[in-house]
Amino acid sequence: MPGSDQLAGRTAVITGGASGIGAALSAELGARGMSVVVADIDGADARRLARELGESGIPALGIRVDVSDPESVDALVQASYAEFGSVEVLCNNAGVLAFGTVAESSLGDWRWLSSVNIEGMLNCLHAFLPRMRERTGWRHVMNTASTHAFLPDPQGTSLYSATKHAIVGLSLGLRAELEPDGIGVTILCPGQVATRILDSQRNRPDVFGPPAAELFGTGTVPMAIEPGEVARDAVEGMLRGAPFVFSLPAHDHDRFRSQVEELWRLAGDALNDSVEP
Ligand SMILES: NC(=O)c1ccc[n+]([C@@H]2O[C@H](COP(=O)([O-])OP(=O)(O)OC[C@H]3O[C@@H](n4cnc5c(N)ncnc54)[C@H](O)[C@@H]3O)[C@@H](O)[C@H]2O)c1
Repeated sequence: MPGSDQLAGRTAVITGGASGIGAALSAELGARGMSVVVADIDGADARRLARELGESGIPALGIRVDVSDPESVDALVQASYAEFGSVEVLCNNAGVLAFGTVAESSLGDWRWLSSVNIEGMLNCLHAFLPRMRERTGWRHVMNTASTHAFLPDPQGTSLYSATKHAIVGLSLGLRAELEPDGIGVTILCPGQVATRILDSQRNRPDVFGPPAAELFGTGTVPMAIEPGEVARDAVEGMLRGAPFVFSLPAHDHDRFRSQVEELWRLAGDALNDSVEP
């Protein structure tokens, strides 16, 4: 398992890398000596961040990618390997949020959320893993889920939670599958983070129709921690090979802990009711 200094000289690809948590991951991994590929559907912002990182001495490439489009992801793979020759860290971080109860949401809402949050992650895994597996040495995949993977909140995040729940299932399976190759997998579960996630609709293609529910505002997430704190937690967790990293504001610790305990209690009670001891 490498320490921070062993990240130096290796390459990380960060999807959703132009804003929020992804931008902070790009800066954190770059500050620890990695070359970074800032990959985002907002190509101008990805190139701008890469330029800024470059000015502070971090080798960086900014590139537009739509993770929901396999051809676009293939182009990202080609560009990453052409620029840096290898990829040791893949941060599948691009994600979008839509509000609305299950009843009031549209199929378009679901298709957009799942095309980016789930299929987008799968596209990147399909495209990068074959080449990452050819290598030996330390390599890692970090998949951004959410505390919402465990329980949705009552404000209408069930569809989003379903996509993040899928990421947990996919990532736990992937962790076991990649263990023989020596590739680690970490599931990053942030709580409320001060990013542009509430303004996710800025990247919603017309083909999915307008959002079915009222937007929850488009400002920065309130009562939240800074993305830089999440990035530091994430990288530390990745370096120790943690299966999960939780990174959430202190005011939310007790609430989240009791939500998770309640979830396991419900499962435990149901198990006791249905399975002979
Ligand atoms: N902010 C929070 O409170 C919070 C909490 C838990 C989990 N998350 C997760 O963190 C991840 C990062 O989100 P954030 O909070 O930094 O939000 P953000 O909106 O600031 O950043 C998300 C980035 O993803 C990009 N993106 C959107 N669709 C894309 C696509 N199809 N292809 C490539 N890039 C695309 C956006 O352009 C943006 O740069 C997401 O997976 C999100 O679900 C965020």
